Order: sequence, then structure tokens, then C-alpha cells
Amino acid sequence: MKIGIIGTGAIGGTIARKMVAAGHQVSVSNSDDFEKLQNRSKELGALPKTLEDLVKDVEVIILSVPTIAIPTLPKTLLDKVPQDTIVVDTSNYYPFRDSDIEDIKKGKAESVWVSEQIGRPVIKAFNMLLAETLVSRGKPNGAPGRIAMAISGDDAKAKGIISGLVNEVGFDVVDAGNLENSWRHQPGTPAYCTELNVTELQLALNDGKRDVAPQIRDSVIKIFMESANQPSHDETVTINRSLFPKNPKKE
Ligand SMILES: NC(=O)c1ccc[n+]([C@@H]2O[C@H](COP(=O)([O-])OP(=O)(O)OC[C@H]3O[C@@H](n4cnc5c(N)ncnc54)[C@H](OP(=O)(O)O)[C@@H]3O)[C@@H](O)[C@H]2O)c1
Repeated sequence: MKIGIIGTGAIGGTIARKMVAAGHQVSVSNSDDFEKLQNRSKELGALPKTLEDLVKDVEVIILSVPTIAIPTLPKTLLDKVPQDTIVVDTSNYYPFRDSDIEDIKKGKAESVWVSEQIGRPVIKAFNMLLAETLVSRGKPNGAPGRIAMAISGDDAKAKGIISGLVNEVGFDVVDAGNLENSWRHQPGTPAYCTELNVTELQLALNDGKRDVAPQIRDSVIKIFMESANQPSHDETVTINRSLFPKNPKKE
């Protein structure tokens, strides 16, 4: 497929590498000057493009920028993009990084807000596994203990296509429902950064509590900020799991 990725950081860069390795034609853009973008693209095996060129002639656009950057994207960026081009949102809202966004603070699902900002439906995917999980924990289809990723959105066909890409890069998929339901895999929920298999993830998606998720999200950030050493990847997953009694304990 032809895939355009906006954002070449921890998650966008990882998705780019994985999609290139799976044989897709990947173009990337970020906010760097073009020379820096060219260097980053070389590392990723992708084609460097301006934002305006990136959105032309692709089947999937993956937005992988911090939430605070979404309103800074050019307002007309997607105006000429055909309606059947799928837009994926990987973002997670963290007030310490993304400032106060009143609608989200009042409880609007983060990707519903993103969709309103860009004036297009989005599929929420690639948001609830850490970049390191994508880098190193993928397994072939059918392998025991395969980790599952949650996806949500209002277009079943688009979700099917994105689920196919997720599967190709080593993960099972659980459909969490429509975009309004995507809060179930936002920060502060038992599904978030907990590396669960399909059965465990289905339970976790049902077990989230919308009203307390923001407090739990902020408590995790506090744990990280107060840690003398940056928790390792496994410690991060263990911390996230430990906040929810029904999640399996990490082996
Ligand atoms: N890191 C993870 O493990 C992870 C996992 C799942 C989801 N997420 C979520 O995915 C989103 C991206 O996370 P990240 O960790 O990849 O962030 P990151 O490492 O900080 O990278 C952000 C990328 O967005 C680009 N960018 C920022 N503003 C832009 C703009 N206005 N136009 C174009 N590009 C812009 C940056 O470009 P420059 O390089 O030019 O600055 C950078 O390439 C966040 O919402 C995050 O919460 C992260």
C-alpha cells in the first residue's frame, strides 16, 4: 500500500520502519527542515515529502504527532484528499505536554477531538502500545502469547484495512468499537500500554472507567517523573498493569 506518515518520532518512525519492512511504499514528513527530514527518511527507508506532497496519492495517512501539534497542521491539508483515503490517529493526550485542551478535559474522546480538528473521520490505532513494544514484541500470526492492539473508528472497512497492517507487523487486533468508544484505549485505562493478548485486551477494554482515567494517567506520569532512574520498558508495562487489579501480573 501507499502510506504517508506525518511525524517521524518514536512511534511514527517505528511504524514507518515496520511498514517499509512489510513491503509498503512509505513516505514521511515532520516539522524539521527538508535536509533533516531527508536524513531521517534515509534511516527509516522511507521517502521524504513535504506535508502537502505526502497527502497526495496515498491510501493511508498516519498522523503521529503530539496532540498539541494537531491544530498547527495546515487547515487545508486534507481538503483535496479523497474521502476513501484512511486517516489514522496515533495520538494520546498528556496535559503536561499538550497543554489544556478543554473539550478533552471535559471528557471528549481524544480522537473525536482530533477528527473535529482536521475535519475528517479518523481510525484510532497504534496509540496503546509503546513504541518499544512495536519494535521488539511483534510475533507471527498464530504465535502463542501474541500481543493485541486495540483499534476504533466508525468505518468498518477502514478498520479492516488498518487491522491488516497491524497484523502484518506482528500484532493481533481487537476492535474496540466506534470512535466515541476509543476512550477505552486512552491513557489511564487497563488497555493502555499493558501488552495484553486478545482475550485479556477484550476484558481490559470492558473494564476501563472513563471518569477516573485522567487521574490514573496523571498518577503514572507522577511515578515516572519521581523515579530516580527512567523505568525500563518491562518496568513501564508492569507499572501500567499494576494499576488495574483485573490485569494479569507481569511474568
Ligand atoms: N512514544 C510512544 O511509545 C507512543 C506510543 C503510542 C502512541 N504515541 C503517541 O503518538 C504521538 C507521537 O508520539 P511520539 O512519541 O512519536 O512523539 P515524538 O517522538 O515527540 O515525535 C513527534 C513527531 O511529530 C512531528 N511533529 C510535531 N509537530 C509537527 C507538525 N506541526 N507537523 C509535522 N510534524 C510534526 C515531530 O517532528 P520533528 O521531528 O520535526 O520535531 C516528530 O517527528 C503522541 O501523541 C504520542 O502520545 C506515542
